Amino acid sequence: MASTGAHRSTTLPMTVRNMGFMLDRLGQDCSPLQYLRELTQNAVEAISATPAFTGEILWDVDWNRYTLTDRFKLAVIDTGIGMTGEEMVQYINALSSSMYQQSTTGNFGVGAKIAAATRNHAGMIYLSWKEGVGRMTHLWRDPATGEYGLQQFERPDGTFGHWAYISDDVKPAAIGANGTMVILLGNDVDDDTMKAPEGSPAPSRWISRYLNTRYFRFPPGVTVKAREGWEFPRTDGDRNKLRTVTGQGQYLDEHAEHAGQVELSGALARWWVLKEDDALAHASSYIASSGHMAALFQDELYEMMSGRAGVARLQLFGVIFGSNRVVIYVEPTSLAGKIVTSNTARTQLLINGEPLPWADWAAEFRAKMPDEITRLIEDVTAGANSPDHHQAIRERLRQIRDLFRLSRYRPAKSGDLSIDESSMMPGGKPRVTEGDKTAGSGRSGSGSGGRAGDIYALFLTASGTPGEEVRSGPDPQVKWVTLAEGTRTPLDMEDRAGKYQAELDLLLINGDFRVYSDMVERWCKQYAHAPGARPHVQEVVREWFEQALVETVLGVHALRDARYWAIDDIRQALSEEALTSAVMPRYHIEMSVRRALGAKLGTLKEKAV
Ligand SMILES: Nc1ncnc2c1ncn2[C@@H]1O[C@H](COP(=O)(O)OP(=O)(O)OP(=O)(O)O)[C@@H](O)[C@H]1O
Ligand SMILES: [Mg+2]
Repeated sequence: MASTGAHRSTTLPMTVRNMGFMLDRLGQDCSPLQYLRELTQNAVEAISATPAFTGEILWDVDWNRYTLTDRFKLAVIDTGIGMTGEEMVQYINALSSSMYQQSTTGNFGVGAKIAAATRNHAGMIYLSWKEGVGRMTHLWRDPATGEYGLQQFERPDGTFGHWAYISDDVKPAAIGANGTMVILLGNDVDDDTMKAPEGSPAPSRWISRYLNTRYFRFPPGVTVKAREGWEFPRTDGDRNKLRTVTGQGQYLDEHAEHAGQVELSGALARWWVLKEDDALAHASSYIASSGHMAALFQDELYEMMSGRAGVARLQLFGVIFGSNRVVIYVEPTSLAGKIVTSNTARTQLLINGEPLPWADWAAEFRAKMPDEITRLIEDVTAGANSPDHHQAIRERLRQIRDLFRLSRYRPAKSGDLSIDESSMMPGGKPRVTEGDKTAGSGRSGSGSGGRAGDIYALFLTASGTPGEEVRSGPDPQVKWVTLAEGTRTPLDMEDRAGKYQAELDLLLINGDFRVYSDMVERWCKQYAHAPGARPHVQEVVREWFEQALVETVLGVHALRDARYWAIDDIRQALSEEALTSAVMPRYHIEMSVRRALGAKLGTLKEKAV
């Protein structure tokens, strides 16, 4: 029925039963330290709502409580607009409730509740001053019922309520007329919430570290500081102090040798080449200071990849060497028809609901590689001594090239087992794997069987024009990399034989891998009498291991497009672990090395072992 004036709905609004369960579920989607972001963000927003847009955010010990109880509890203090008692009840105690406009790209009204409340069952104390009046409320998880909500107070005047006035004696020094302090009690009243949760990077500076790596920058006028060294006496100002948290942006600008931007379709890639000595100096401290990658959205960093994962992604972006000095942040732009949002837990970015297209961006970035990064890569490789075995290996493989063209796969038809004929036809059940799903998305009609369903299947031929190679195989460029030469970054391929980057047709071999160095040592010992043998031994050993790896890449490539080899299977067959397996058979390599060294350095007399 149409109504005039105020619309009166005839729909019975859906309600929530068992809100605690819902909160816990949503809370599990958040990363363990996400609450630092949510409470910082609330403070930033509260400061942005003040007339001057300026203010301070402090992550500090609740010193009042420490003085009285000797317990460390983490607190965040802001000089934002503050809340009244009613506002606290309304915003803190209701899911999807926000003072701000709720939207997919703005506030969800859930942040503090799902990320912080679910990790502080003993509670979060809110002390808030508005126009000089202080009030307090206590959000907790009632141990009796498992329900989240505000605790009831008996106020000094004998009335009851879910908030109470509080004296200015406990007001933090930073707060004037307006501001808020949120104290995290943890899951138990005895919990030390200043202590970094298990697994947090840089435990002694975990708050600065997390916030710096989460934020690209804070709005101008907002200063953020975090306590470090809180366990030292408060008189020891050198160690027990507040450190300013700037976000990654300022740090990178200050420590970069070069910086710039590359325009990608639907995104902007910002890049930095860090100065040589600075790059590693602060590693594992309060900020991400060596090479890494992330996505940037609304001044926050998502999907940050550092360490091994960061190296792999930088290499995909074409930064094959020197990746410990390169930082790339890709900022997707919301264009018409492309909406960038984060998921509810704010752990991931989505473009129209899909994950970020890292592989596409990588290809584009490689094509538009900034000169400064190219120069860095060349500088690093200039230091490497890597004689070329390419020619010798290709020459040998030519003799067995027919072996690299595999015969067609046929299922064995023997014994008593009867085989379902239809399963042997192209067009049987498609085998869905992760790789296929992403590669094939967007194709219409996918999932409805294979080629045989279409009438054109009758016209399939075995090959293209006779004598014409349909697709040329890989011809990997090979690079031996080591820590000593600066061509390998720590953790990249750590204790692995090597890695193959299919997108770049690049085979990186870890010269530090034990299997290679053990064989070098073994032969150096055997040729101990021959001065200057070592470089020759190393070259011969490397050449034969390199051949094994090149053969692996070429051989596995021949399995492509076969019925039981999906793209993802091929990827696995060439993974770092698979390549490590490929160099484990030592007998034939040992024989070849023996022969080659015999020719170069003279044969050894057979020794009894
Ligand atoms: N430090 C603060 N100062 C003033 N108001 C605050 C503060 N912290 C929270 N609030 C109020 O509580 C509301 C709820 O916060 P909550 O983090 O749960 O959701 P939100 O910030 O609105 O949305 P989001 O899901 O994006 O975090 C805020 O909208 C704000 O009105
Ligand atoms: Mg919030």
